[in-house]
Amino acid sequence: MKSRRNFIKKSAIAGVGITIMPNLTFGITGRNKGEKLKVGMIGVGLRGTNHLNNVLQRKDVLVTAICDIDSNRISIALDYIEKAGQPKPAIFGKNNFDYKNLLELDNVDAVIIATPWLWHTRMTKDAMLAGKYAGVEVSASNTMEECWDLVNTHEQTGTHMMILENVNYRRDILAILNMVKQDVFGELVHFRCGYQHDLRFVKFNDGKTAYGKGVEFGEKGISESAWRTQHSLLRNADVYPTHGVGPVATMCNINRGNRFLSLTSNATKAIGLHNYIVKKGGKNHPNAKLKFKQGDVITTTIETANGETIIVTHDCNLPRPYSLGFRVQGANGLWEKDGDRIYIEGQSEPHRWDDAKNWLDKYDHPLWKKYGGIATGAGHGGMDFFVINAFIESAKQNIAPPLDAYDAAAWSAITPLSELSIENNGEPQDFPDFTRGNWIKRKPYNWMKDSF
Ligand SMILES: NC(=O)c1ccc[n+]([C@@H]2O[C@H](COP(=O)([O-])OP(=O)(O)OC[C@H]3O[C@@H](n4cnc5c(N)ncnc54)[C@H](O)[C@@H]3O)[C@@H](O)[C@H]2O)c1
Repeated sequence: MKSRRNFIKKSAIAGVGITIMPNLTFGITGRNKGEKLKVGMIGVGLRGTNHLNNVLQRKDVLVTAICDIDSNRISIALDYIEKAGQPKPAIFGKNNFDYKNLLELDNVDAVIIATPWLWHTRMTKDAMLAGKYAGVEVSASNTMEECWDLVNTHEQTGTHMMILENVNYRRDILAILNMVKQDVFGELVHFRCGYQHDLRFVKFNDGKTAYGKGVEFGEKGISESAWRTQHSLLRNADVYPTHGVGPVATMCNINRGNRFLSLTSNATKAIGLHNYIVKKGGKNHPNAKLKFKQGDVITTTIETANGETIIVTHDCNLPRPYSLGFRVQGANGLWEKDGDRIYIEGQSEPHRWDDAKNWLDKYDHPLWKKYGGIATGAGHGGMDFFVINAFIESAKQNIAPPLDAYDAAAWSAITPLSELSIENNGEPQDFPDFTRGNWIKRKPYNWMKDSF
């Protein structure tokens, strides 16, 4: 692979091999003012296509290359690109490693990676080595080694990566972050969050329709059932922690004045996926014989250096309505998403909940005030617009993104650490310090801007 492509060469970066301190801006981009950011899409399945549509709506981006091993997905993507009036991009996907040829292109400044989990770190690392500003879907890494790979490659190359955690940009989350920044909750003490989403209809399908029909997965499934379900079969771990822990980490300044110290995890028995197979496919279906390892409800408690606890729940295999179950609690009061309620001592009636709505409206974030109108159609209630906007704006300037390699590593580390803890009857596991001590002096990102 040719190293250090134009984007980086133009960026007056000090060079490969130096260890760059966290939170530094790595040089000033050499892109001409007004020049479009040239983006390559790696993985244009359901999620990648959603990102593609969001970038196609922007006047400051040109999609110059796409890569997917599924030719049907390439056709769908080409159709969208043509309808958007953009020139035909270079196409890759002849095999699993053809993305490396995309990374060779001079006319790709940045890449958006939305492939199955096992490809995330490998592709992000290769992108940084090729000098491409990388955005990767969640979760970023599957093993501790992969978490370190992200940090080490970022530091060695000076190339940035952003974990594309969209929930950090949800309207209520940003309003609560605003309340945190304005000290409405007082000193923070405790959080709850997680991923509580009945995914049985995603983990299984009939190989033709992505959602809702059939009990096949792996080679007989399509979309997420083709790869996600295997993790439930073989790993007893919180395999998807970032939707919950990402927003909380931002509120309590993880890697920037605070850090995750240790966790304990416990898993229940695993009955949900088996029951679903029997119910939908009959007890004689071959998949009914499988023993899924992933406990149906996995509960992780994290301790932080600043003395907070965070309870993270992974609950995806049983019938339930969707909820990320947020709770943000401080010395003055708390927000609970389940129940949409807030209590602030001295402002709420004693011992009575307020409807959260008035508070959320009052503290609506400047980003949502400014862009709420255009964001709403972007997917997931609008938050997908903001996460892509932050990525594109950071990449255009070639500056550190709001959610960086240290965040990606610390949040994703919950997966291997929870697995170890569960395996050892809830034994505490220490988080590595991915900032190598720099968390004590790294400054929080300026989350209260109205730009990105
Ligand atoms: N942030 C969110 O709200 C959100 C929502 C959905 C999915 N996701 C994440 O996005 C990612 C993709 O999920 P999805 O629902 O689009 O899954 P998907 O299965 O629909 O899409 C994945 C795509 O990657 C392609 N692919 C696989 N291996 C490849 C390779 N080596 N090179 C090129 N392409 C390859 C597949 O052909 C497929 O089209 C996952 O990590 C998932 O967790 C995030």
